[in-house]
Amino acid sequence: KKTIKDIEVTGKTVLVRVDFNVPRNKETGEITNDNRIVAALPTLKYLLEQKPKAIVLFSHLGKVKTEEDKAKNDLSVVAPRLSELLGVDVKFVNCTRGPELENAVKEADNAQVILVQNTRYEKGESKNDPELGQYWASLGDVFVEDAFGSVHRAHASTAGIPAHLPSAAGFLVEKEIAYIGKAVSDPERPMVAILGGAKVSDKILVIENLLKIADKVIVGGGMTYTFMKAMGHEIGNSLVEDDRIEVAKEIIEKGGDKLILPVDSVINNAFAAEGDIKVCGEDIPEGYMGLDIGPKSVENIKAALEGAKTVVWNGPMGVFEMEPFAKGTIAVCEALANLPDANTIIGGGDSAAAVMQLGYADKVSHISTGGGASLEYMEGKVLPGIAAIDDK
Ligand code: 3PG
Repeated sequence: KKTIKDIEVTGKTVLVRVDFNVPRNKETGEITNDNRIVAALPTLKYLLEQKPKAIVLFSHLGKVKTEEDKAKNDLSVVAPRLSELLGVDVKFVNCTRGPELENAVKEADNAQVILVQNTRYEKGESKNDPELGQYWASLGDVFVEDAFGSVHRAHASTAGIPAHLPSAAGFLVEKEIAYIGKAVSDPERPMVAILGGAKVSDKILVIENLLKIADKVIVGGGMTYTFMKAMGHEIGNSLVEDDRIEVAKEIIEKGGDKLILPVDSVINNAFAAEGDIKVCGEDIPEGYMGLDIGPKSVENIKAALEGAKTVVWNGPMGVFEMEPFAKGTIAVCEALANLPDANTIIGGGDSAAAVMQLGYADKVSHISTGGGASLEYMEGKVLPGIAAIDDK
């Protein structure tokens, strides 16, 4: 794969797609977690050292469907934080096309960093409108893809621009691919996959693909109860996807001994941190719902992880945001922390948030910056943002 070190950038205008889609406080709009900005720094610092003419940064922020969504997802919030972290002035351009942007790029000198307004302000972004990709490409000389979190999107800024320019992967994309790619294509064994989260429908493809690759596949989280129902158990008021019972049955059959399902749950009579919280076996009484895996399941998971050399984990084991239902997720964090020689990889999204919130971030090998992207990668899919670079 062509990386940033394989392309000449000195004196050039370098366009970089970053993923600055950061979580923000709903009321104040303040950035609540700047990991994705921090994750882009190695590429940006390297580029600064190469003395390009300009570094033009493109990112989306949130979902922009209506005019009102624009104000809520104004990318200018990122500029001061980026400037502080990078230690250089960042010029924010409050538009996505036209003379203001074109002049800012033209007049830039001495590795000036320019941040363009939210790419999703353009309707053509999500449709990968060829005109838009070509227009943005016309602003620069080379393109660097460093938005790992967005490489599963075939959008104008991720896949359109590189169709027109010499392109390469940035250090973040390179690192993500090195970790996740090795884990799913050439893992050191035994390899264990842990899959949680609320919905079976989100995880069917990844469970199916990882059953082909891993030595063991552990399932937990809200999707457990669809599997439990498929096995004929009582699940009370637990979350269930009735239209996925059949596929759950197929997965159980295909999975055989490889598939490890919970054997007990922490249940409550309400979706709340208080109530009649207790542990029960495979059958959940009426009026109760499963909100975490139980202690026997935790022991089974620990045993399954013993001696593992590669672990990939996507999706929490329970409603870890509520303290009484965090034990399963904490136990997985601890089990991974006890595997210092293993390659332990956390998919982005909720499991990444769990590992960080629970204080285990420095105890694992890699936490992906991509939620959907890491999931699709583990599903074995082609990621359009990466394919666009490979095609060059
Ligand atoms: C993410 O947060 O997973 C990426 O930034 C992609 O965002 P999207 O799901 O809105 O395309």
